[in-house]
Amino acid sequence: MNQKVIGVLTSGGDAPGMNAAVRGVVRSAIKRGMRVVGIRRGYNGLIHGDVFEMNMRDVSDIIQRGGTILYTARCLEFKEQAGVLKAKETCEKLGINGVVVVGGDGSFRGASDLSKAGVPCIGLPGTIDNDISCTDYTIGYDTAMNTVCEMVDKLRDTAQSHDRCSVVEVMGRRAGYIALNTGIACGATFILVPELDVDENEIIDKIMAAQKLGKHHFIIMVAEGVGNSEALAKRIEDATGVESRATILGHVQRGGNPTVRDRVAATRLAYRAVELLEQGIGDRVVGFQKGDVVDYDIHEGLAMRKQFPVDLYRIANEVSF
Ligand code: ADP
Ligand code: F6P
Repeated sequence: MNQKVIGVLTSGGDAPGMNAAVRGVVRSAIKRGMRVVGIRRGYNGLIHGDVFEMNMRDVSDIIQRGGTILYTARCLEFKEQAGVLKAKETCEKLGINGVVVVGGDGSFRGASDLSKAGVPCIGLPGTIDNDISCTDYTIGYDTAMNTVCEMVDKLRDTAQSHDRCSVVEVMGRRAGYIALNTGIACGATFILVPELDVDENEIIDKIMAAQKLGKHHFIIMVAEGVGNSEALAKRIEDATGVESRATILGHVQRGGNPTVRDRVAATRLAYRAVELLEQGIGDRVVGFQKGDVVDYDIHEGLAMRKQFPVDLYRIANEVSF
């Protein structure tokens, strides 16, 4: 039988732990007698044949590094059928008979399209947003949240010194998971997420009530999906008289050395992806449910809906006063 050749690529926004996933794929595939090619810059590399053979040592010293050694991209060409067919041709030419795609839900749509075109692909959830419905956890989420905490602890110092309100905008695209959990961990007075509507007067009232109880500085955690945090800071200042500043944390949240949780998650998911490809199984997305590694048909996985933890949100708001 011909030796199996699998490709690995990272796609969409990078996330700490993507390198650990690439390492996991390369090491477990070679261990099982397969060859591995690294594909550069997401689907672009597949379309243009920008690939290279990877051996065990190519993934040495990367488990601890943020970013992705394979580079990443948002490749518009791959959203068209012509792009998918070009990628398929590259796979045929190079003998690639399976691809692991580390990315978010857009990347999985691409992985499903390529699987349907005849190249089995497995999606691994890699995004700081934790917004993929068929998995409890995505690679990069924990590291990003720890980065947010480190930054907000610093913001708290200066907010405390000046008796100010610090409005902190965190990433998450249309999801509020980063905001919710970092809001709890950083003791935010209020957390705003796109999943839940809040009357802005509630924030104002809470700040003023807390002021009466002797609180002089405030952290308001805002998910980017909620909207303009600068304008919110201004409105809070006008309504409460508390001097307010907005800070948009931005791309710092996407960098840095992955935490233990992200390294282990990436390794476990990568291992399962290789197991599936070894059996010739494609069009699947791998993830976690209650701590266990699971896999779903990509289409079904994308159609699943994740419940926002409303109870946790309620607890967060009750304990911050
Ligand atoms: P991010 O959320 O960081 O953008 P995604 O994994 O959603 O990460 O990446 C989106 C990228 O996936 C797109 O820019 C494109 O390169 C790739 N992609 C491939 N096929 C599709 C598709 N059918 N729909 C959307 N995105 C696709
Ligand atoms: O999906 C990851 C993410 O960092 C989101 O949280 C954010 O909305 C987006 O990507 C930012 O994308 P870009 O890198 O294109 O600015």
